[in-house]
Amino acid sequence: MEQQFSRREIVKSIGFTSCAMLLDPLTSLSQTNQKIMLQRAIPASGEKLPVIGLGSWQQFDVGPGAAERAQLKEVLGKMEELGGKLVDASPMYGRAEQVIGDLSGELKNNDKFFFATKVWTTGKQQGIDQMNDSLKKMGRKKMDLMQIHNLQDWETHLKTLKDWKSQGKVRYIGITHYTDSAHARLEQIVKSREVDFVQLNYSIRSRNAEKSLLNAAKDNGVAVIINEPFEQGALFRAVKGKELPAWAADYDIQSWAQYFLKFIVSNDAVTCAIPGTSDVKHLIDNLGAGLGRMPDAAGRKKMIAHLETV
Ligand SMILES: NC(=O)c1ccc[n+]([C@@H]2O[C@H](COP(=O)([O-])OP(=O)(O)OC[C@H]3O[C@@H](n4cnc5c(N)ncnc54)[C@H](OP(=O)(O)O)[C@@H]3O)[C@@H](O)[C@H]2O)c1
Repeated sequence: MEQQFSRREIVKSIGFTSCAMLLDPLTSLSQTNQKIMLQRAIPASGEKLPVIGLGSWQQFDVGPGAAERAQLKEVLGKMEELGGKLVDASPMYGRAEQVIGDLSGELKNNDKFFFATKVWTTGKQQGIDQMNDSLKKMGRKKMDLMQIHNLQDWETHLKTLKDWKSQGKVRYIGITHYTDSAHARLEQIVKSREVDFVQLNYSIRSRNAEKSLLNAAKDNGVAVIINEPFEQGALFRAVKGKELPAWAADYDIQSWAQYFLKFIVSNDAVTCAIPGTSDVKHLIDNLGAGLGRMPDAAGRKKMIAHLETV
């Protein structure tokens, strides 16, 4: 059941990014009357996912104290409330899997999320042990998506993942990387049609995936998750102190975060982008990028060209 953004949530969120928008932040959205996030189907099943998810690297690697976990609990609570689904983790992210499992257990919303985690080790048994550990930490008997992190020992783990999928221990299997230099290898695996998902780096400034990987995923029925959509925050530093262009409103863009995310999710090869955040205001802002009008091909070109001038 998809949740809707309330006017109050959006006003609260946008108030932090643009005073002008405080006047009537939903003016443009109300023209389309859309308050449910854009969804894309996972090609392997037809199951739909909202186009904005949540990353957890660094942000969710915190200790057991209630104080340091409080804002992350708020993030996961709001994520569910606003209809977000995909939460991406990894054993590489320190305590993130445990924190996500603990907090979603406390919030009793564990089963509302589409959990994606990873195997990040070498060796068959080490991989099995690590994946069982992830299930325990994240409070699940079955993982929605298990990915091979940075292609580490991928040929070994892919065999296990196929077994686990046939046994029903994982619903989908995938591969990930975060560098352009890995795109050719990712593409080769995508073309073998052995995986349901590929996770890769792509942003408005870092567009190597457009050359062929995104099309290969689309043509071969592989769902696409985009990591580092803000280049680990570098994109915000590039536009610091700059106003959005007036025409951004034509695409219902109300913040720089939405500018960067709408560029990504308006590409129909993309299933879901996973911005990382530990800040509930940022989460609301990011989820808002799944709403309203999206740029077309000409709009996307204009967005790139404009960013090059700021
Ligand atoms: N190989 C792999 O599998 C791989 C590699 C890299 C990343 N990933 C996944 O991709 C996720 C995303 O990548 P990332 O976290 O490295 O980088 P990112 O999403 O590009 O950027 C995160 C940074 O942007 C800030 N931010 C988020 N929303 C914002 C907003 N609305 N306004 C202003 N600042 C905002 C965050 O700070 P705040 O916390 O203050 O919001 C954080 O500093 C990771 O968390 C991880 O799950 C996977």
